[in-house]
Amino acid sequence: MQTLVVSLYIVSFALFIYGLMGLTGPKTAVRGNWIAAVGMGIALVATLLIPGISNWVLIGLGIVIGTLLGVPSAKKVKMTAMPQMVALFNGVGGGTVALVAWVEFRDDPGYSTHPTYFAVASLFSLIIGSVSFWGSLVAFGKLQEILPGSPIGLGRAQSALNGLLLVAAIVLAVLIVLGGTNELLIIGALLLSAVLGVMVVLPIGGADMPVVISLLNAFTGLAAAATGLALSNTAMIVAGMIVGASGSILTDQMAKAMNRSIPSIVAGGFGGSGAAVGGGDGGDRTVKATSASDAAILMAYAEQVVVVPGYGMAVAQAQHAVKDMAKLLESKGVTVKYAIHPVAGRMPGHMNVLLAEADVPYDQLKEMDDINGDFARTDVALVIGANDVTNPAARNDPSSPIHGMPILNVDEARQIIVLKRSMNSGFAGIDNPLFYDDKTSMLFGDAKKSVTEVTEELKAL
Ligand code: TAP
Repeated sequence: MQTLVVSLYIVSFALFIYGLMGLTGPKTAVRGNWIAAVGMGIALVATLLIPGISNWVLIGLGIVIGTLLGVPSAKKVKMTAMPQMVALFNGVGGGTVALVAWVEFRDDPGYSTHPTYFAVASLFSLIIGSVSFWGSLVAFGKLQEILPGSPIGLGRAQSALNGLLLVAAIVLAVLIVLGGTNELLIIGALLLSAVLGVMVVLPIGGADMPVVISLLNAFTGLAAAATGLALSNTAMIVAGMIVGASGSILTDQMAKAMNRSIPSIVAGGFGGSGAAVGGGDGGDRTVKATSASDAAILMAYAEQVVVVPGYGMAVAQAQHAVKDMAKLLESKGVTVKYAIHPVAGRMPGHMNVLLAEADVPYDQLKEMDDINGDFARTDVALVIGANDVTNPAARNDPSSPIHGMPILNVDEARQIIVLKRSMNSGFAGIDNPLFYDDKTSMLFGDAKKSVTEVTEELKAL
């Protein structure tokens, strides 16, 4: 039986890695996800085959409850709510490994019959898993707007308090490793890490939340790998390390794309609520409004139009309308390209996923570094619900909170048309000088409605 379990685990590792390779491109991502899910199914069956597993009723009940909660919510979730969904699913993983460590402690008080590494790995999982669970719940609450998205914290005292909580949790863990068997020790460590998880995430603003979720995801992976080490379960070690490594790489890439360091994100304070906050403080500057028919004329006589999608396109679900408009423009001889900023929207690859769903040819999607040189040769840049990723203040204004963040050089285009509903700011909660540029016209309204109107006008031309 042991050989069968190990063989099934090896098959599941191969499927995890093969599935992960599929996630590197939108064309293969769905298949990659399925392949990794089959791998996880095989690992689950293999684990249930391990001799000594009993409590089949409880196991069955767990599977039924998990399926009933997980499948409908995953099917129903809107694309824009995906980050908080990931936060919730990821947090549950962290909570699970923390509870496993507690159960092991109760089974064998103080892990007394186990070698030291077992206690160390279990307590590592307990602390990190608990931080990840509670931190993920706060992240979910902020993105779901159950909690205020703005930073909530004690200012400078916050880091000292967090440090104290961590040290106190570690002291209790050390007492257990040194032979403590009193259950209050492990409950204390669990509670201190729970408060730490809440305290670490509360002061972080909504704008940084997706990066935090990715970081907590990496933590959960490490905690799961440590549990695998304690339980001598290779499947948990491998899956945990894959989650830990990919979560760390993703966190690093997202932070780089926003020109923020991970420590400065964890220190908190940046970014307003996830929703658009306040009106743009344009002072006495004025903006130029335009109409769908004027926008259509401008684009119909252009040689090249670059579409710049952002979070607003996702909210409006305008991707299919955008694709129809682009097809019409192409039929009139206009070259259409899409400029994709790495952090446009609210999750990595958000724009790629939406445009792929609308069957926009993949070769028309241009990454920031590839398209930025093109804007100066572009007749019309059509900004659809994008804001922060086009903000020239990131380049020109050292006092701007997003100064240094790489942006799409939309302001270099000959004409700019911006589709949004109002002068509200984007995720960073700051004004965008692009909207007041002489070359810019604002087409106010819901992005899908505006694009559909422009398409109708194009048909009439
Ligand atoms: P934002 O700067 O958030 O701007 C989106 C704009 O869309 C808003 O100004 C809003 O203006 C408009 N909008 C909303 N609903 C709309 C609708 N139905 N129709 C038309 N317009 C609509 O978006 P962005 O430019 O994509 O930038 C993304 C931001 O999120 C960046 O600050 C980035 O750092 C942050 N962020 C992204 C990620 C990832 S991984 N993508 C992770 C963390 C943080 P109105 O309300 O006036 O319509």
